[in-house]
Amino acid sequence: MRASPMKVLQVSAEIFPLLKTGGLADIAGALPAALTAVGCDVRVLLPGFASILQGLADATVLSQVVTPWGETVTLRHGRLATLNVHAYVIDAPALYHRAGSPYEDAQRQPYADNYRRFALLGWMADQLAQGLDPQWTPQVVHAHDWHAALAPAYLAFSRERQRQRVASVYTVHNLAYQGVFAPQHFHELGLPDAAFSINGLEFYGQISFMKAGLFYADRITTVSPTYAQEIQTPEQGCGLDGLLRARRSALSGILNAVDASVWNPATDKLITSGYSTSKPAGKARCKEALQTEMGLAVKRQAPLFGVVSRLTEQKGLHLVLSGIDELLSRGGQLVVLGSGEGWLEAALREQARKHPQSVAVRLGYDEALAHRIFGATDVTLVPSRFEPCGLTQMYGLSYGSLPLVRRVGGLADTVVDCTLEDLAAQTANGFVFDDFTAEAFSRALRRAFALYARADEWAEVVRRAMQQDFGWTASAEKYLALYRELAS
Ligand code: ADP
Ligand code: GLC
Repeated sequence: MRASPMKVLQVSAEIFPLLKTGGLADIAGALPAALTAVGCDVRVLLPGFASILQGLADATVLSQVVTPWGETVTLRHGRLATLNVHAYVIDAPALYHRAGSPYEDAQRQPYADNYRRFALLGWMADQLAQGLDPQWTPQVVHAHDWHAALAPAYLAFSRERQRQRVASVYTVHNLAYQGVFAPQHFHELGLPDAAFSINGLEFYGQISFMKAGLFYADRITTVSPTYAQEIQTPEQGCGLDGLLRARRSALSGILNAVDASVWNPATDKLITSGYSTSKPAGKARCKEALQTEMGLAVKRQAPLFGVVSRLTEQKGLHLVLSGIDELLSRGGQLVVLGSGEGWLEAALREQARKHPQSVAVRLGYDEALAHRIFGATDVTLVPSRFEPCGLTQMYGLSYGSLPLVRRVGGLADTVVDCTLEDLAAQTANGFVFDDFTAEAFSRALRRAFALYARADEWAEVVRRAMQQDFGWTASAEKYLALYRELAS
């Protein structure tokens, strides 16, 4: 007899294509279909940002509920038509309807009431676990990143009161963003006093949502096996490595995957010309079109390097700045799409001004341009200081834009350097450097130029990169195995 489908509630702040600031949204958007394919009954819980409410079809009011701090909010139930998934959306305009970023104001300052805006997400997950929707109760609540990280805490205390037996999984997409708030807000959260302790969510006298997730979840996952190890060390543990070591038997790394319905050069409507390993010609057309669009010299032979990234400390882009002279002196070109820290934006813009034929920079967020860049470029640069998984190196591989990455986190798990031995073994698919230094980055750049000069070998590595399977099946099965273990 077939087991009945596992009922799983995915809880996240973002979901592609409705709301995205980074890779979290791509994963939240891909998981419902991936988990459905392996036999889960998946629903999602989301905050009611305007774009999410707009994407909710056939919405009905499931309930009006009073939050622990006394605010009345509405929970709507409907379907996200684009993803064909049931969704619960918290409609609370006073909390979520704000222009601009979901997390910060126009001055890039986190909203002062973020603790309420995201505590509500975790609290509502627990309400659903307790049967708020009489038609559907999850067996597992799977919360993503600090925004949803109070869910495991609320669930643990409800369970203690014997109100339900719903299990929790907490996935860390980025340990560096923790959701830390002043302790005086604790009483607003509706958690018992016992939670504000070192054995709980207290973190150096503050409230830490991240710590709540790590402490109370039945299982912790992170988005690559290497990152699961790295965060247990003081260097990468962001102050939480002790707790992560203590919980290591509950911690595992499950690699992110690529949603081929969105990222596939053969079917991608956002790129100039489709291409594949059997019909590769379109890639050159994509390159020419992007060079033209960006005002770069139209040169088929110039190796074109691309960056699609949040411009933050994490991404190590000062290494790209330090390598620009090397890159240009060897006849390369660079295109950057990103937004973030002011000094990086300014420094990149300055490079584009100095080298208009060879460096193009677009500041801002542009999904379609990101696709055109992966389609056109020869190399995707991801020199991160740390990288929980990283998706752009996998998009680069799929689009035959060989990743040049630092050996860290998920980058280490997905990219194999073009050393002679790995070329010979037919496992090489990109360029990898170790030290977080300009010199190491520059050597990797030179390796990329050296291979590019050997057109046949380059083409072979590109073919291999494009044929690699980064599909969701394997990872979705790992999540399912985890859910089954917890539910049994
Ligand atoms: P992170 O989540 O740390 O930002 P990932 O590599 O996991 O890094 O995911 C980044 C996602 O955001 C990818 O889908 C990438 O294409 C996209 N992205 C980043 N910056 C931009 C931008 N400026 N415009 C469009 N897409 C972007
Ligand atoms: C985070 C990480 C990134 C990861 C993404 C999706 O934003 O920075 O490495 O790929 O989440 O899991």
